[in-house]
Amino acid sequence: MGIIERFIEHPELGKKEYAELLQASESSEGRERLKKEALRLRRLYYGDTVYVRGLIEFTNYCKNDCFYCGIRHGNREAERYRLTKEEILSCCEAGYGLGFRTFVLQGGEDPWFTDGRMEEAVRSIKERYPDCAVTLSIGERSFESYRRLREAGADRYLLRHETASEEHYRKLHPAEMSLSHRKQCLYSLKELGYQVGAGIMVGSPGQTYEELAEDLIFLRELQPQMAGIGPFVPHHSTPFKDEPAGSVDLTLRLLSIIRILLPKVLLPATTALGTMDPLGREKGFAAGANVVMPNLSPAENRKQYELYDNKLCTGAEAAESLADLKKRVEAAGWKLSMERGDAAEEPLQEN
Ligand code: 5AD
Repeated sequence: MGIIERFIEHPELGKKEYAELLQASESSEGRERLKKEALRLRRLYYGDTVYVRGLIEFTNYCKNDCFYCGIRHGNREAERYRLTKEEILSCCEAGYGLGFRTFVLQGGEDPWFTDGRMEEAVRSIKERYPDCAVTLSIGERSFESYRRLREAGADRYLLRHETASEEHYRKLHPAEMSLSHRKQCLYSLKELGYQVGAGIMVGSPGQTYEELAEDLIFLRELQPQMAGIGPFVPHHSTPFKDEPAGSVDLTLRLLSIIRILLPKVLLPATTALGTMDPLGREKGFAAGANVVMPNLSPAENRKQYELYDNKLCTGAEAAESLADLKKRVEAAGWKLSMERGDAAEEPLQEN
């Protein structure tokens, strides 16, 4: 039996085997077989539903200096902004009116947003919109901070691990950052009862199949409810400005593999995927993705939240063009759901 069939039957493989699986997925039969199984599982747990989340990018200040990221501290060209609590609430108001029932507050690691200020923002949103889920994506914080924000009502937390390989982590981050701390944060978030999202950039500089194999093993151990997987896209004022972008094709193969590894996972067709390929979102759904996250940030700030070059923020990527997005999702054969969309716990029906 080939490695792909072995993986489909028993997704728990070792590092060498995952690397071999990635190699085997390069062939068109391999890729098609993985896609087919990913779609079977996606349908089993989620039917044809695509969940939608409103993304509010509320600050692009960041104290970190990650080599890949356009809002890194060292990028003096970035025009910085932060939203007030009132501005965040008006994004939610607009989003709620459009039908959104999940708000994702994403920002750089901005010390201005102390635990107290974040707590207040989360509390106010949950008070006004108790039927909505609040997802935070604000980086590494202390256990106590995560505890307070959970207590204030935050339901979910996105913190991509970026790479599970110590050696690769060092190529992407300055010395003061640490992979073990990042992993620790993810485990703390889980312990506190958040629905947790981890993930990686595909094709970040120095990434090999061996590194990706470590990512798969880490995801399997962590068992996150969500996984964010998008191609690396260079940003012109970062140390990685001349590095090649990650491959859409490999991203799609990884989406299928992760769907098989974690069948109940909420898996977005990311903005980076849509940026690299005009049909990226649709291809993502066809590979096993089941979430989209249109942008609900104030229009004038969207350009400023520039993680990478040419980041999409208009058309189907904009929350106010929900009708467009719905059309595209439906034309691809899926149904857009405005429900809060927590992770599935069991198959839709016995079979
Ligand atoms: N290309 C693609 N994704 C990026 N991110 C940051 N910089 C880039 C880039 N240049 C991703 C990281 C981060 C998420 C918010 O955006 O994975 O966790």
